[in-house]
Amino acid sequence: MLETMPIGRSLLSQTQIRARVKQLGRDLTRHYRKKRPVFLGVMNGALFFLTDLIREVGLEEVEISCVRLASYAGTQSTGKLRGLGAMESLRAELQGRHVLIIDDILDTGYTLAALVACVKELGAADVKTCVLLDKHRKREIAIKADWTGFKIADEFVVGYGLDFDGRYRGLKQVRVLKP
Ligand code: IMP
Ligand code: MG
Repeated sequence: MLETMPIGRSLLSQTQIRARVKQLGRDLTRHYRKKRPVFLGVMNGALFFLTDLIREVGLEEVEISCVRLASYAGTQSTGKLRGLGAMESLRAELQGRHVLIIDDILDTGYTLAALVACVKELGAADVKTCVLLDKHRKREIAIKADWTGFKIADEFVVGYGLDFDGRYRGLKQVRVLKP
């Protein structure tokens, strides 16, 4: 049976998200203007962020790559990261490249830390990270994203790609899930 969890107040409006994504796009354009980066999106959560962000990056040569990772069940981190094994198939795509990992949210830090280590191990020339949201109070591993959209409090959020067991990704705002 589906657990009922009504969605609560809006934390970030569509306008706020759009404005911040535009700024990030400008910063990334400046940083990568002489490079040919690969934007590696962490699916499914980063889907909307990646596609909006890449259209705000005024570079002709940006490639997109994706990896599907998951560590959450409901509103809790399982502590186990699933999906890293498939990264081996991206070796040729990422070797020697400037890789920007794009994720929806940085929480305990396990996902991003493991992925950064993995992309380095695959032979990327440079690895940087960009997250839409940062729940910095929940960090268990010392990791900081190179670019962050918004710092938020320790609340479970959905919308704009973020889900609760696969639901609510299509919401236009980022909203808090009511307990
Ligand atoms: P970490 O490994 O604990 O940093 O978890 C990061 C991953 O957990 C993100 O990529 C999300 O998929 C998921 N996650 C963490 N917090 C939330 C949240 O508030 N809403 C939805 N997903 C979340
Ligand atoms: Mg995720």
